[in-house]
Parts: sequence; structure tokens; C-alpha cells
Amino acid sequence: METTKRMMLFPFMAQGHLIPFLQLAQLIERRNGYSITLINTPSNIRNLRSYLPTSSSVHLSSLPFNPSDHGLPPGHESMDSLPFHLLFPLYKATESLRPAFTRFVSDALSLDPTSPLCIIADPYLGWTVDVAEELGVFHAFFVTGSERSTAIYHSLWTLWPLQWSHSDELALPNRPNVRLHRSQVTKLLLYGDDNNPIFVFFCRQIAHFCKSDGVIVNTAEEFERSGVEFLKEESGGMPVWAVGPLLRVPSTPSSDDTHIGWLAGHPPDSVLYVSFGSMNTISASQMVELAMGLEASGTAFMWVIRPPSGFDFKGGFREEWLPEGFEERMREQNRGVLIHGWAPQMEILSHGSTGAFLSHCGWNSVLESLCNGVPIIGWPIAGEQFYNSMMMVEEIGVCVEIARGNGNESVVCREDVERIVRSVMMGGEGEEMRRKAREVGEVLRAAVGEGGASVRAMDDFLRTALPTMAGKD
Ligand code: UDX
Repeated sequence: METTKRMMLFPFMAQGHLIPFLQLAQLIERRNGYSITLINTPSNIRNLRSYLPTSSSVHLSSLPFNPSDHGLPPGHESMDSLPFHLLFPLYKATESLRPAFTRFVSDALSLDPTSPLCIIADPYLGWTVDVAEELGVFHAFFVTGSERSTAIYHSLWTLWPLQWSHSDELALPNRPNVRLHRSQVTKLLLYGDDNNPIFVFFCRQIAHFCKSDGVIVNTAEEFERSGVEFLKEESGGMPVWAVGPLLRVPSTPSSDDTHIGWLAGHPPDSVLYVSFGSMNTISASQMVELAMGLEASGTAFMWVIRPPSGFDFKGGFREEWLPEGFEERMREQNRGVLIHGWAPQMEILSHGSTGAFLSHCGWNSVLESLCNGVPIIGWPIAGEQFYNSMMMVEEIGVCVEIARGNGNESVVCREDVERIVRSVMMGGEGEEMRRKAREVGEVLRAAVGEGGASVRAMDDFLRTALPTMAGKD
């Protein structure tokens, strides 16, 4: 009789990481013979349950975790639920999970020593490599970003301190054709140092990255041809498996869903969807310029809006953050909808009325947009989003960048918003981008279809990980 093979998945505590990990768990579940456990803290596990069909065999297990022991408010166990000043306590708290995680895996091994086991963890939980080593099991990181962006991001951390030319540019020594501007580098790399605890936390994770047995990436090889080799080099020759895109299947729209109902009242490709992901927002002054530019553009839009930077991200929204009477005017003219809180993004992007996505270029958003043939207006804010946007503009041709960053460093003016939105929504440039986005969407979908490259990569990962686990000591 064949033994059950066990997969333990451990994402970082942020929506942009939890969601693709759950997709990965479900992808492995579709192959017979695997027992899959997704591990996290209690409140994240409770939230994930609602995303998982009741028929699923994926186990959701929580490690003991008390937010108040780490200076976090009760129930606040995820990046997107915390104000900026509480991010470090959360990062630090993830390291405190090591003993409980080690016990969890080691108990599973003692309970059934004959079934092989593999850990798939988030690169933000670098210490899981040491746990795998200690317990003699296979370890892989699952990168929720793209190959190319992860490689650039990794490369910058290993190059730190960064040397800028007089024009504030930098070329990567091992990829001279990758030229970055200062405005494309996350603040932590620009201003952080050994006295900054978040900076030191990330240095620790980067140091662990190359110690894993391999990297799984949420991308497709045909889509990111230049990324695979780059990431392999950056990770010191580790195997890289591109198994994506891993996407949530949109639920069937119901007639009482107000957002979908609103979209249905608009012509095909006519609505601009605006969202900055699960944990980013823009500044108050940028918000006003964006609103004025959207209004002047004459385009219909659906905007997922959160309080501006510096205010409680999940707090109440104040009218004063927008031009006077903006929301009411847009509603009366049936021109625009503001969604305060969480939007059904996959359902919106897969709706025929959605014509473009003004996005912070988080990797999940990029994939969700392209799989639905929707071009992007890029406004990257942090981390590797700058390189996602750059790749979409320079290599794939499905994006035009409107701004960068969420503070004073990125001046956004209403005239530019109006001009770019008009050209993407109403001009020839937008048509060409939409055509390319549809083409790329087909490539992405084919990669995860029968016999696709991502399916083969997943097979290869499973073949590599499992026999190795059994023999590893
Ligand atoms: C972050 C990074 O930006 C991203 O590049 C990285 O790979 C993962 O962590 P985030 O900033 O949240 O993620 O953006 P994104 O990658 O786009 O993920 C957000 C996810 O939340 C998407 O799946 C999106 O569909 C979903 N979402 C977000 C909603 O369903 N509704 C919302 O209102 C906002």
C-alpha cells in the first residue's frame, strides 16, 4: 500500500501570502495521495476557513499564539489589520512561533515515521529552513511574487549598502541591463540600517533564503522566461519550480451583489477598477489628486478605498480626505463607486465591464488582472511591486505607470491621472494593451491547463521533494 505523503504549508501572516498558499494547498490536494496541512495563527486560520470549500481535505491547524504577548491588539494577527507602528512586533512575533512549529512537525513525524513529510514555507519565515534541517525533512520556499522581481529584490539586499550614480540610478552588477531608479527601491533599503529592527529582520530572512532545498514560484515559465535563470542564480543554484498562476476561482455572481450589479449596468471594458491591495494605501494629497483626475477623465470607476497613509488603515473613512461632495456626485451620476473595506476582486476583474486595473502591482493582483485579460495602470508602493510594474511596462507591454510610492516622494497630479486614464480606457494605447493582456492571459491559463508547463513543474517538484525527503537524514 502506498504511504500518504505529507505537506505542511506555512504562509506569512498577510492576505497577499495567505491566499496564494491556500491556492497551492488546493492544487496539491487535487493530486491523490497527499495529506496537506496549512499552519498559521488562530485568527488567520479562522479567516481562511471561509475560503475553503467544506468538502476540502486540507487541514487548517493553528499554533498557540496570543497577540497581546507581543504587544498586538487581540485578534490582530495579520499585516493588513495592523497600523504601521505595529508591523515590527508582528514580524518579531513570527520568530516566536519556532518552538511550537518544531513541536508540531516533530509530533507528526513521531506519530507516523513512515510517511514522508515536506515543509513549504514563506520566505518571510526563513527560520523554517533550520527546523527542516534539524528534523531531516525536505524544505521549499513558496514565493508569492514573480521570479524576476524576487531576484531583483534579493539582489538589492545582498548588494546593500546601495551605490547610486549621480542620476540616482543603479545597474545590477550581474544583470547590467536591469537599471533601477532610487524611486523604485523600498524605503527600508534606502534608509534602513543595523539599528532598524525591521531591516535586521529582513536581513535574517534573506540570509536563510539560499539554504532551502528549492523554490516554488507563483508564475509561469513561458510568461517569465528571463526570470527563471535570474532567480536560480540569486538563490545560489537552487531548483526553481514555476507552478502558477494560482488563482482563486471567482464565485458565480449573484444578482443581489451590489458591486457586480453595478458593473453589469455598464458597457464592456468601460469601468476602471482601482485598488492598492490588502495592506497599502496612498497619501491624503495623492488621494485628492486621484479623485479629481478620475472625475475629470469621464471614466466610470470602482475604487477600493482605505484611509490614507498615517491613519488607521482599518479605521473609519472621513469625507474630508476626498474633494468636497465627490462620493455623492459620483454616485448620483452613476459614474463611480467607492468600496470601503474589502472588495470581491476576482469577481470584479473577471466581469466583462472591467476595462483596466489601476493597481499597486502586488503580484497576485497582476496575475488576477492578466488572467482576465485586463491591462494595468501601475502605481507601485512598496517591496517588489516596483519591479512587477517595471516588468509589465518594459517586457510584457500591458501596463503604463502613473506614479510610485505613497508619500511626498511621488507627486501625482490630477492632469496626469486624467490623461493616462483616458488613454488606457478610451484611446488606442489602451486597446493595444488590452489585446496584449488577453494574449498573455491565454499563455497563463495554458500553463496551468492539461499538460501545461506549470503542471509539469508541479509534478517535478513533488517527485523531487518526496523521494529526497524519505532519504534525507
Ligand atoms: C503583497 C505584495 O504586494 C505582493 O507582491 C506579494 O507577492 C504578496 O504580498 P498585497 O500587497 O496584498 O500582497 O497585494 P496582492 O499581491 O495584489 O494581493 C492581494 C490579494 O488580496 C489579491 O488576491 C486580491 O484579489 C485580494 N484582495 C485585495 C481582495 O480580494 N479584495 C480587496 O479588497 C483587496
